[in-house]
Amino acid sequence: MRALIFDLDGVLVFTDAFHYQAWKEMADRLGIYFDEKINNRLRGVSRMDSLEIILEKYHGAPLSYAEKCALADEKNETYKKLLQTMTPDDVSQEVRETLRELRCRGHKLAVGSSSKNTRFILAQTNLKDAFDAVSDGTNITRSKPDPEVFLKAAMFLGEQPGNCLAVEDAEAGIDAAKSGGMKAAGIGEAAKYVRTDYPLQKISELLELDFG
Ligand code: BG6
Ligand code: MG
Repeated sequence: MRALIFDLDGVLVFTDAFHYQAWKEMADRLGIYFDEKINNRLRGVSRMDSLEIILEKYHGAPLSYAEKCALADEKNETYKKLLQTMTPDDVSQEVRETLRELRCRGHKLAVGSSSKNTRFILAQTNLKDAFDAVSDGTNITRSKPDPEVFLKAAMFLGEQPGNCLAVEDAEAGIDAAKSGGMKAAGIGEAAKYVRTDYPLQKISELLELDFG
């Protein structure tokens, strides 16, 4: 395995609580029921697709595309304010050391995230220099489970998909990796998923894998 492509939210940093808080504020304002279980369905899913999932519980007058965009913007403004509180301390030593050691062993590393806030998060947490390439929500037209974000990451690294391992916390992300012809390591919920090739309890276990 020559390259590893890391999902961001839920793998390198734990922004799920911020996504939840920002969507919850929007949902509460509109009187839409929203809970952690619905939030879990948003992992790896783009901002607009996430909004559509939240609106499944909306029973008001139909919303125009412009109104939906305004709601997505409202959520993102709240989310970005929360992201501004992030610092390098929000990345664990385990994550940093794992990335450093993988690079020492000659692997190329990329980020593959649906988030349009990826570069901001990498800057806040001082993670930018840990990667050779970044593929994110700003360079794709289809979000996970479509493989586009991972295939672009492989392309940016100059590697064939078959030589790449994607590291994910979401089932949608594992599906994206597999349909792109990559191997997939799963952490958290994704460790239990049937399509996951390498279930991980913690990220440093990547260093123990026999990539074959
Ligand atoms: C993914 C998150 O990384 O990015 C999703 O898992 C989120 O929950 C998606 O909806 C898009 O994020 P953003 O930052 O572009 O709104
Ligand atoms: Mg994730």
